[in-house]
Amino acid sequence: MTDINNDPKSTKALNSQLVKDDVKRAVSRRSAIKSGLALMSGGAIAASTASVANAVTPDPLITEIQDWNRYLGEGVDARPYGSPSQFESEAVRRDVPWLTADAKSSVNFTPLHKLEGVITPNGLCFERHHGGIAEIDPADHRLMINGLVDTPLIFTMEDLKRFPRENKVYFLECAANSGMEWRGAQLNGCQFTHGMVHNVMYTGVPLKYLLAEAGVKTAGKWVLPEGGDASHMTRSIPLDKCLDDCLVATHMNGEALRPEQGYPMRLVVPGWEGNMWIKWLRRIEIGDKPWHQREETSKYTDLLEDGLARRFTWVMDVKSVITNPSPQAPIDHGRGQTVLSGLAWSGHGKVSRVDVSIDGGRNWKPARLDGPSWSRSVHRFYYDFNWDGSELLLQSRAVDEFGNVQPTKNALRAQRGVNSIYHNNSIQTWHIKPDGSAENVEVS
Ligand code: MTE
Ligand code: CO
Repeated sequence: MTDINNDPKSTKALNSQLVKDDVKRAVSRRSAIKSGLALMSGGAIAASTASVANAVTPDPLITEIQDWNRYLGEGVDARPYGSPSQFESEAVRRDVPWLTADAKSSVNFTPLHKLEGVITPNGLCFERHHGGIAEIDPADHRLMINGLVDTPLIFTMEDLKRFPRENKVYFLECAANSGMEWRGAQLNGCQFTHGMVHNVMYTGVPLKYLLAEAGVKTAGKWVLPEGGDASHMTRSIPLDKCLDDCLVATHMNGEALRPEQGYPMRLVVPGWEGNMWIKWLRRIEIGDKPWHQREETSKYTDLLEDGLARRFTWVMDVKSVITNPSPQAPIDHGRGQTVLSGLAWSGHGKVSRVDVSIDGGRNWKPARLDGPSWSRSVHRFYYDFNWDGSELLLQSRAVDEFGNVQPTKNALRAQRGVNSIYHNNSIQTWHIKPDGSAENVEVS
């Protein structure tokens, strides 16, 4: 769990916790799965089912005038910057306190089970900081380009506004997303297993325009963006990627970036691991080779069984998760017409297909993709079915436009062993019980 925990002391504590929990869960969940399989049934929804609303009983909530219907409400200026309804107070980012020693180098998670559509609201985008949130007055912010360039330059925010800008929706996924699940089912909720992802519309200046302004020398092949926060985060990025589709973003979902997301500017590196999306961007150096910084040597590498490590694993592979039902969002309406919903994404391009299984991967049915399908943006899928109240083992499997298929957990382990943390894009299983509750399990 190195990404969400860079402190070796607490990494140790975390590992022993992982092992303890593994053992406990392996026993309780496996027995649950066996009994579940025997009972399993269910099927795709028929065109018409029994009514899902109460047809006859008189309901006082409709027959009697309620307070909110009787009295005038607050006026227009009561909420100059609007916030969600008080009844949505559960839709918040949450952390896992035992994961990290200090909130300043930590992570919290997007409440995926509370969201619909494909856009993550700004206030719910997960946060991952290595040195806390930098509070920067844009009037004091500068972006420098130096290194192998004809003219080293310093840009102010005003300077940046004069360059052509673009609007693009992209997912950002931390390479450590689902990292805690490598060795076994661990955290009970898609917020915690998959919530290190968000998807927003960025407004930004293509990095290629700024690099052209400085004039990259022919020897320049690599780019090192640096953060203006206390962590001074840096990553080596190939120049070709920067010239292709990277943005220096100032806005998300129409408004200025939030401080948590790098205000006043961050780097957007479409489809690539979140660690490279440097926040509070203050400097871009051009070089002729990678720098081998901390975040690309001791972190963000995957130790294989033979002692070698995978490095520079930038692209986030095709992945999906069922967000409803899930452990934090049980089926609470009883049997009958049920909507299963989820998210799928691929760092390679568009998602072309998602299949759903209700029996732990034995049989698969195509899900319905709905909403916009943009390259390297999350896709929403639905599977409408009739739940007969029996136990289910729900899984989703995404395929992208290049034919990349989301692997099972065991297939991924066969390839990479069990030492890995990063780039776990394997299939997630939720065990649905007859009372509608759900648990994070693994099927083998
Ligand atoms: N940039 C700076 N300057 N400092 C950071 O701590 N964290 C990185 C990346 N960029 C980080 C940073 C990591 S590991 C991730 S996953 C993403 O930012 C998280 O972006 P978010 O906080 O907007 O979700
Ligand atoms: Co990260």
